[in-house]
Amino acid sequence: MSQNSDTAAGVLRRSVAALPPHRGPQIEEDLNAKPGALRRMSLNESAEPPSPKVAAAVAAAVVNANRYPDPRARALAEAISDRTEVPVSRIAFGNGSHELIMLMGTAFMEAGSRIVVPSPSFQPYQTAARIAGAELSIVPVDAEGANDVDAMLAACTPVPRMVIAATPNNPTGALLSQVALDKLIAGVPKTTLLVIDEAYYEFGRLAGGPDVLKALKARKAPWLVLRTFSKAYNLAGLRVGYALASHDEIVEGINRVRGVFNVNRLAQAAALAALSDEPYARASQKRTAAERDRLAVGLKAMGLSPLPSAANFVCVKTSKPASDVVSALARKGIMIVPVGGPPYENHIRITLGTPEDTDAVLTALKEVL
Ligand SMILES: Cc1ncc(COP(=O)(O)O)c(C=O)c1O
Repeated sequence: MSQNSDTAAGVLRRSVAALPPHRGPQIEEDLNAKPGALRRMSLNESAEPPSPKVAAAVAAAVVNANRYPDPRARALAEAISDRTEVPVSRIAFGNGSHELIMLMGTAFMEAGSRIVVPSPSFQPYQTAARIAGAELSIVPVDAEGANDVDAMLAACTPVPRMVIAATPNNPTGALLSQVALDKLIAGVPKTTLLVIDEAYYEFGRLAGGPDVLKALKARKAPWLVLRTFSKAYNLAGLRVGYALASHDEIVEGINRVRGVFNVNRLAQAAALAALSDEPYARASQKRTAAERDRLAVGLKAMGLSPLPSAANFVCVKTSKPASDVVSALARKGIMIVPVGGPPYENHIRITLGTPEDTDAVLTALKEVL
């Protein structure tokens, strides 16, 4: 028998083989451009650098890069605990909150369990469930792009293992109202893990969104909140996300399946420094929110109807297939993404950047549409 085979597909776990092909998000190099040569308005990052305090903290931390990092990120956990009043024993860290979502798949999902997720929303919820062999109940968002709480609760019969909600939701940008949030918290069965992804938490609060953590404290049943330093703290490149949970057991579950040193030394130092400079982060968030509102006004002036966004991006339906609009904008040096999937074939998502980015994307859209 030959040692070499034409394919190694047979070595994949069956649930992994069944996943769609891996297509990482595009960066400039995928479009044959140099880093920074295009307006990158596609990945819901911040266009602004992190606080100078972050640069100083990273420079100080790199001196000890020969040593593994704190496997529990104690200093960071304490700083987050001080701000959230969630004890350190109920805080877990991930290499970005994306990693935490994948870890949730390993720790909490399995064949025979069912997971309720919104759609369109952050795709890794579905990927994690598919890898674990869990069943998915996919619930369309409402007309404004918010998670449809009534429909999600209707999907809670029979009792699911987990319900995942996102507020603000990506890619639509809409918040859950206080009423909808309270209904979700009260209605999700007591044995179900209710996960609320608040990757855009700081923007959501700035836009007047409800205090999710406060509302969840009333839930005498398992819950988990996901947050990140990638968006509002300008740290996407360093990969720090965290989970706040109702019970020690939930954090213990995540800790059992994660890499021991999953958040590196520079990332821990950077996140701590970013937290120590709230005025910097806040000012950056406000500039982003101002661009969001300016972009929405510009889109409306073109006769478009952007979905109401409380995040660092705007989702809007255009008159053309989104993939055509995305390609046309890429030719003009602007990277955005299509939403895709019915009924979002014509919807695009634009991440906010600088005022010049806003002007450029509006001008380009006027030419293309
Ligand atoms: C809703 C949502 N959750 C989680 C993430 C993951 O963020 P990160 O892994 O950078 O923390 C994102 C990123 O875009 C997101 O939109």
